[in-house]
Amino acid sequence: ARILVLNGPNLNLLGEREPTVYGHTTLVMIEADLAKAAQQAGHDSEFLQTNAEHLLIERIHAARKDGTDFILINPGAWTHTSVALRDALAATGLPFVELHMSNVHAREPFRHHSYLSDIAIGVICGFGADSYRLAMRAAINRLANPPA
Ligand code: DQA
Repeated sequence: ARILVLNGPNLNLLGEREPTVYGHTTLVMIEADLAKAAQQAGHDSEFLQTNAEHLLIERIHAARKDGTDFILINPGAWTHTSVALRDALAATGLPFVELHMSNVHAREPFRHHSYLSDIAIGVICGFGADSYRLAMRAAINRLANPPA
């Protein structure tokens, strides 16, 4: 299957940005790790990080027709702001996992609400770079055991 891994704004700065919150691992390291995990399970993976909301939305639209089977997304701050991102994901009808490195529920109140969580298969947050690995694991398990 094809797994699309999406990262929203500021996640290009992982490893440099607020290391006490987000750790020292870079997005390049995380993506290499995920590509390996997907490949070991017999899947293809593709990656996009963007700071431009319209590019993310257009990539999600393309996923409707390019053979994408599953999406992992760390939407960054758009989690808490973007009805447009929610609508784009809903339009694909594809299963997705929402993930965050930090435990958003232990942070400022404005991070407690997500426009995506109720339409996601599930949400993973609070495990740092492991949140990505756990999300990939969830995708691989779901693809192996689709719901009846
Ligand atoms: C984040 C949490 C968001 O609240 C924040 O805006 C981010 C990163 C995380 O991975 O913990 O940019 O999605």
